[in-house]
Amino acid sequence: MKYKKEEQRALLKRSKELLEEPNATGNKAKDQIDDLIKTIVYHEWRYYVLNEPVVSDYEYDHLYKKLEALEQVNPLMLRPDSPTQRVSNDLTEDFPSVAHLIPMLSLDNSYNIEDLQDFDKRVKGLVDLPEDAEIEYCVEPKFDGGSIALVYENNALIRAATRGNGTMGEEMTNNARAMRSIPIQADFKKYGIQKVELRGEVIIRMDTFEKVNKKREAAGQSILANARNAATGAMRVKDPKEVERRGLEAFVYQLGFAIDDEGDDKLSDFKTHDEGIKMLGDLGFKIPKSGYERKVCKNIQEAHQFCVEWEARRDQYNYEIDGMVVKVNEVALQNKCGYTSHHPRWAIAYKFKAKQATTKLLNVEYQIGKIGSVTPVAKLEPVQLAGVTISSVSLHNEDFIKTKDIRLGDTVLVERSGDVIPYIVKTIDDIRDGSEKVIDFPKNCPSCSTQLVRTEGEAAWRCTNPTCEAQILQKMIFHVSKDAMDIDGFGKSYVERFYEMGWLKSIADIYRLDYDKIAQLEGFGTKSAANLKKAIEKAKQNPIRRLLHSLSIHHLGKKVSRLLAGEIKEVLDLTKWEEENFTNIKDVGPKVAENVMTFFREEQNVALIKELESLGVNVKQTKADEKEEVITDGVLSGKTILFTGSLQEVTRKEAQELAKKAGAKVASGVSSNLNILVVGEKAGSKLKKAQALGTVEIITEEAFLKIVS
Ligand code: IVH
Repeated sequence: MKYKKEEQRALLKRSKELLEEPNATGNKAKDQIDDLIKTIVYHEWRYYVLNEPVVSDYEYDHLYKKLEALEQVNPLMLRPDSPTQRVSNDLTEDFPSVAHLIPMLSLDNSYNIEDLQDFDKRVKGLVDLPEDAEIEYCVEPKFDGGSIALVYENNALIRAATRGNGTMGEEMTNNARAMRSIPIQADFKKYGIQKVELRGEVIIRMDTFEKVNKKREAAGQSILANARNAATGAMRVKDPKEVERRGLEAFVYQLGFAIDDEGDDKLSDFKTHDEGIKMLGDLGFKIPKSGYERKVCKNIQEAHQFCVEWEARRDQYNYEIDGMVVKVNEVALQNKCGYTSHHPRWAIAYKFKAKQATTKLLNVEYQIGKIGSVTPVAKLEPVQLAGVTISSVSLHNEDFIKTKDIRLGDTVLVERSGDVIPYIVKTIDDIRDGSEKVIDFPKNCPSCSTQLVRTEGEAAWRCTNPTCEAQILQKMIFHVSKDAMDIDGFGKSYVERFYEMGWLKSIADIYRLDYDKIAQLEGFGTKSAANLKKAIEKAKQNPIRRLLHSLSIHHLGKKVSRLLAGEIKEVLDLTKWEEENFTNIKDVGPKVAENVMTFFREEQNVALIKELESLGVNVKQTKADEKEEVITDGVLSGKTILFTGSLQEVTRKEAQELAKKAGAKVASGVSSNLNILVVGEKAGSKLKKAQALGTVEIITEEAFLKIVS
């Protein structure tokens, strides 16, 4: 190891401080520059050598930019060994080095519209265009894998190499030949090209990546933190057969060099970047597809818009991307812009907000759920993830902690992608200093001290004490929620507040609230108290399927509550039910049967239902509870259907009714059970998902109406 653990911890800590510190002036600037160099060199080692970074690209870029800015203001402090003075490097001694035909540069970065507008202004300056002129940009994803340079001569792939230090790369022709998306032959001669160098990115599809990780886990190998590591790692495997098995793919995004038989330049034959990419697509290369991944934008605003759209849908995409690349489209203008030693002046990366970051696990708290499940929650040193500050994440259960060997005081890698709840990917255990503590899962309920139990086959430890206060509170919170009794305006905070006032001791108390007293509470008034009363009165008339669900019976979800409600005249009928009554209903299993039976055999639960009834809560089957007739001989019987996009002829509700009348089951999302997807205008992610499944019949609204008429 190049660094000792203590050193690494100190460097990581210092990096985070540096990110927050304002740029120093005078003598202090030298100290800051020295610290920045030290930390950046360390992060480059973690990234390029170990393939295991401990800060996000975003944080690294900011350290780097900070160093650049300080060096610019204090030129006398510029050190020759500063990371800004060399192009970064992925060379190792494992593969032979080869020289690129032209240097493989990096990209400058931008993070927002202002950065892009500055870039646009710079470009206009370079090409002598007035500020109000419009420049056309071609925008495409910034694939997050390992870069590759491919040389073709006389139509044959003769060499492939990694980026290396930009001038020299590692030769990996045999591995490239094992990647199916890289043609071994391509008819460049058709375009008069004798020799050409292409640039691209080797990446791994997300689903392939997940499979690779599952295999590694099963084999007891370390989990790869992201698809990028999986790709760059697999590129360097010494056995091309193994490379093939890892399912690598290569997107080609740039023509670097091209000459004809006479040695004359052919790059300028293409008027635009877009045209060059299109040719590569025609020759059989995998390119960013026009109208989807690649777009020619008429000005920088449109380019920014396309970047923003992609940031929003990045998580639905099957490849890891860390931003977009905005390129001046016209080749003549690109040539006018030229290059710095680090990047082309005609292109810039628009970086997305980081999804992963490292932080410290400070403490673990335990939350009791409505059925007594104990969930460990990690308290973290606050960290920015995809634009949101994260200070706690769920650790799910004891097994999760054990499998990932998560300890108190650990540095952990957290991820938050799109609408997914943030989670811990792994611990950075090679920088532990020994002070980390194994997490002792509690044996007793943190609220009522009852011994916890864990049922076989279940992941959670549970408190089974029916009078556990923490549990009762959660039951009440669930009871009023949207999914259960749906008491409008009655949220978690009200339940907690009334509970603390001593007004809520059990679910029944919800229907005994004193609205005059509530009106006098701070933040309330007669109006809001009256609104609450109205909402509670309304909820009393709910169908019993809602009441059943609201009781927090283990395993009794929305669906089975509805099924049971369809079979009974009133709630307490269930006190007489035997296992058979339950299991005779399709989709009701013995597990839920047992839980419901146990619940209705307990005196205090029966008393609760009677109490609710006496308080005016409906306990009798309503029209809305009655069983829906299943049509078995309709044209769509046995089919599951889903509607997406905006329909033109009928409303979504009407379409669903028509489908049900024809015997179909209406789904709420795309899954492998889905048979038919009806697409209206502006269909989005559901359509893509269904297409990706390949098993869903996709039809128009018109076709659907024809079927059901
Ligand atoms: S253009 C001379 N386009 O990003 C132009 N690069 O930090 C150089 N990358 O190492 C790059 N997707 O490997 C370009 N659509 C794309 C890209 C892309 C990913 C990588 C490239 C480079 C890094 C720049």
